[in-house]
Amino acid sequence: MCGILGYAGGREAAELLLEGLRRLEYRGYDSAGLCLVDGSGLQIRKCAGRIDNLAALVGREPVHGTTGISHTRWATHGEPTDANAHPHLDRSGKLALVHNGVIENYLELKRRLSDTGHTFSSQTDTEVLAHLIGDHYDRLPATRDRLLTAVRNALVEVTGTYGIAVVHADHPGEIVGARRGSPLVIGIGDGEFLLSSDVTALVAHTRDVIYLNDHDLVWIEGGSYQLTSLTQPQIDREVRKIEWDSSAAQRGEFAHFMLKEIFEQPASLENVMRGRLDWENCSAKLGGLNMTPRELREIDRILIVACGTALHAAMAAEYVIEELAHIPVEVDFASEARYRNSPLDARTLVLVVSQSGETADTLAAMREAQRKGLRALAICNVVGSTIARESDGGVYMHAGPEIGVAATKSFTSQLAIFVLLGLLLGRLRHLACPAGRDILDALKRLPGHVGEILDHSDAIRATANRYAGARDMLFLGRQANYPIALEGALKLKEISYIHAEAYPSAEIKHGVIALISPEFPTVIICPRDGVYEKNLSNLQEIKARKGPVIAIAHPDDTTAASMADDVLPVPETHPIVQPILNVVPLQLFAYHTAVALGRDVDKPRNLAKSVTVE
Ligand code: G6P
Repeated sequence: MCGILGYAGGREAAELLLEGLRRLEYRGYDSAGLCLVDGSGLQIRKCAGRIDNLAALVGREPVHGTTGISHTRWATHGEPTDANAHPHLDRSGKLALVHNGVIENYLELKRRLSDTGHTFSSQTDTEVLAHLIGDHYDRLPATRDRLLTAVRNALVEVTGTYGIAVVHADHPGEIVGARRGSPLVIGIGDGEFLLSSDVTALVAHTRDVIYLNDHDLVWIEGGSYQLTSLTQPQIDREVRKIEWDSSAAQRGEFAHFMLKEIFEQPASLENVMRGRLDWENCSAKLGGLNMTPRELREIDRILIVACGTALHAAMAAEYVIEELAHIPVEVDFASEARYRNSPLDARTLVLVVSQSGETADTLAAMREAQRKGLRALAICNVVGSTIARESDGGVYMHAGPEIGVAATKSFTSQLAIFVLLGLLLGRLRHLACPAGRDILDALKRLPGHVGEILDHSDAIRATANRYAGARDMLFLGRQANYPIALEGALKLKEISYIHAEAYPSAEIKHGVIALISPEFPTVIICPRDGVYEKNLSNLQEIKARKGPVIAIAHPDDTTAASMADDVLPVPETHPIVQPILNVVPLQLFAYHTAVALGRDVDKPRNLAKSVTVE
């Protein structure tokens, strides 16, 4: 949440910052602002609303300078107003700060600063931090590193999380950045430096980046940079190369990033499986796990923690891994797992799943497991993200940048990884080679099968248009398709704002069936699997109460088609792989519904792609 971009170099910064903010807008988009330093003071422009509003403001009231910081906000403390937008100033008006995160002791700090005459013009915790740094600055001698020292001294007093960028009117050409809990990356260009919450804003300018760790500080000054930390005077961090170029994060001919990313799934699934199908051993190769076959055999329990869509992938994994490897799997919300006294022992494998690799609760749950001495592996998409770097090993999704707030291609990649993991663990135990080969065959055909569903996008749009007037919808499925139903409901509610919930199909009799009426449509996932007949019974229970039904079923399933009002067809494949196909029409259904309702698909209200606050 919240995007940060800073620039110090030889170019005019305003346009560059605005362009970068547009790339970061998916991180939060309720207000935005920038501040330029040109040697004659600070020039600040900020306002509520999207980057377009800020660009219009800068168009009316231009700013100039070759050093600057900027921000797109997802509100935590204080409503999204002009006053609460970042940057925030200190008491002197000479120091400006942008911030991502939450200063937990801001009330205590605010009280102390107020007692010494500080007054505040916003409700934000960020303004308190700006004043605190300014307060330290005022008490320091005029040395060259005065701004850096002031930031360092202030941060020692702070509890909470931050990724910050700070500039000062008396220090043109200088930016100080720091992180704790919120990501920050340095981009090293040709005679210029960038500082961002996210590599997405950097790729247009450079591929060379340094990921900061918690407690790191960076001082960009005089055409170079210096790294230090709150605990050490000088530190070294590796310069890494970003693998993808900026075109991967462009919308191209698609109306929305979400649609583009849905349509990228045949390719992202190819990528996630590349080099990982082990035909010789009827198994999977996941070298990044950093575990020997012996260690993998010793695992007697798996705990998977995640949030949002990644949690739904984990819930599907519970069925897949238990079925293939007979290892008990437990899934928990990362926000719960981090505060829970779950009994874990050395043979428990902890797995965290995160597209961004920055979700605050997931990161905290992983660190908590590691603190208890457990091995924690991560399934991540963003290479170099905090979770990817701090985990003890894992599997990259290789899905490319996912910009749409509603996760789509990362979800199917996560599901595919869990099938590979289940296969690998199963083959190290009891699973026979032909059974393993059947799964590999299904995985190989998966991208083509997804392509077949995408070919039905227009038909799915027609169905979505017919149901777009619904106020509520229900999603049902059994076994691994229950988490798919949860994901279908999540997609619909987050981008269309139609209330949707999901249950295991049979569970409706314990309450939710009371809601069924001609105005309350149900989507039921009923592939021809071990519980097919059971699902058809549930379908009939809904029809008996005049509830409209959309079935996710195979194209040749005339029985389901005769019972349901509409069918969204999915090719038939191995039951272990089938859930990966079943979610695709649900993604398209949610997308077309949201478009029919005129929603802002890529930036739904109140949401952010990367939740870096607790
Ligand atoms: C946010 C996003 C979701 C995502 C969740 C977890 O809520 O809007 O799409 O599933 O965070 O994110 P992660 O990056 O950890 O997978």
